[in-house]
Amino acid sequence: MDSLAFKKKRLIIRQPDDWHLHLRDGDILKSVISPTARVFHRAVVMPNLVPPISTIQQALAYRERILEAVPEGISFSPLMTAYLSDKTSPKILEEGFTKGVFFAAKLYPQNATTNSSLGVSDITKINSVLETMEIIGLPLLIHGEVTNSDVDVFDREAVFIEQHLEPLLNKFPKLKVVLEHITTETAVQYVESKYPALAATITPHHLHLNRNAMFINGFRSDFYCLPIVKREKHRVALRSAATSGKPCFFLGTDSAPHLRADKQSSCGCAGIFNALNAIESYAQVFDEEGALDKLEAFSSEFGPKYYGLPLNEQKITLIKSPHKVPSKFILQSNQIESEYIVPFHSGETLSWRVSETERF
Ligand code: NCD
Ligand code: ZN
Repeated sequence: MDSLAFKKKRLIIRQPDDWHLHLRDGDILKSVISPTARVFHRAVVMPNLVPPISTIQQALAYRERILEAVPEGISFSPLMTAYLSDKTSPKILEEGFTKGVFFAAKLYPQNATTNSSLGVSDITKINSVLETMEIIGLPLLIHGEVTNSDVDVFDREAVFIEQHLEPLLNKFPKLKVVLEHITTETAVQYVESKYPALAATITPHHLHLNRNAMFINGFRSDFYCLPIVKREKHRVALRSAATSGKPCFFLGTDSAPHLRADKQSSCGCAGIFNALNAIESYAQVFDEEGALDKLEAFSSEFGPKYYGLPLNEQKITLIKSPHKVPSKFILQSNQIESEYIVPFHSGETLSWRVSETERF
C-alpha cells in the first residue's frame, strides 16, 4: 500500500495497463490510440482486424502502425496477439512467441462477435495448438461464449464455461487462460475456484450497466456489446469481484470503437468505445463501492503479476473533479464531423479525471 497516496481529492496510483483492447487500424487507430496511451503503459491488442492478425509478419506490421500512431513523447507498448483459427499452425505460434512478437493467442468461437467468422469452429480441432501453448507458456485469451442459436444470448457465457472451458482446463491444466470480459456471477465464481491457472478481465461497462440500459427510451445500440450486458445481480457480482482485491480479476477495457453509423445500421455492430475515459470510469465504480484503495491492484498490479511482467514504475494522478464526457468522439482525420464514435458515458458527468500535468 506504500505506493498509494491519498491527498485531498487526489489518488495517485501506479500507471495501469489495459489487458484487452481493440485499436482497429487506419484512421480509427490514429484517433483512438491517444486516449489509451495517455493513461496506460501497455495494452494487449486484439487481433480481430480484416484480415485477422494471424502471422508474425502481420503482427509486426500492425505493431509498427500502432507505434507510429502513438503521440510523440508518450511511452506505450502494444502487446500483440495471434488470432486462432482451425488452421493455426503450432509452429508459427511457437516462432512468434520465441521471437517476442506474440504475447498471447486469442480464441474467438467462430461467429461469436465482431470479425470472428474465421475463428475456431470447434475447440477440439486446435488441440495440438493448445498443447504447444501449454508447453511453451503462451497464454490463451478466450471470448467465452457459445454460438449456438438455440442457446439464449444471455446464457451463452455460462454454457461456454460448462461445455467448453471446464473440459479445456481439465485437458490442459498448466495452460495460462484468461477468460475475457466476464459478465456473470457464474463466471466470477468459476474463475475464483480455478485461479491461478485461470484469470479474468472485467470491463468498465459491465460494471456500470445492466441489461435494462439497452432499452431505455427505445433500443440503445450504444450499450450493445458482446458478451451482452446481463441482469442486475450479475453486475453486482462483477462489482464485488473487481473490488475484492482478488488477483484473478484485473483490468481489461474491451474498448471496441465502431463508427456511429455502423452501430445504427440495420445490423448494429457490437462494442463500446470506453477508452476515452476508461480509468475514470473504473475509478467511479471503485469510489461508489468504497474501495478506492483496491483500484491500484486491479488496474496496475494483478495483470502484470499474472503474466509475469514487471510492474510499471510511473505513477498517474486521478483528481476528483466532475467533468462532462463529450457526446461525440470525432476522428482526427474528419474535418466535416460526419464520422464519429459515441464514447461510453457520452453526455454524462464523471467524478474523476486524470491529471495531465501530475505525472512522475
Ligand atoms: C468487440 C469488437 O467490436 O471487436 N466487440 C464487443 O462487443 N466486445 C469484439 C469482442 O471483444 O467481442
Ligand atoms: Zn474484445
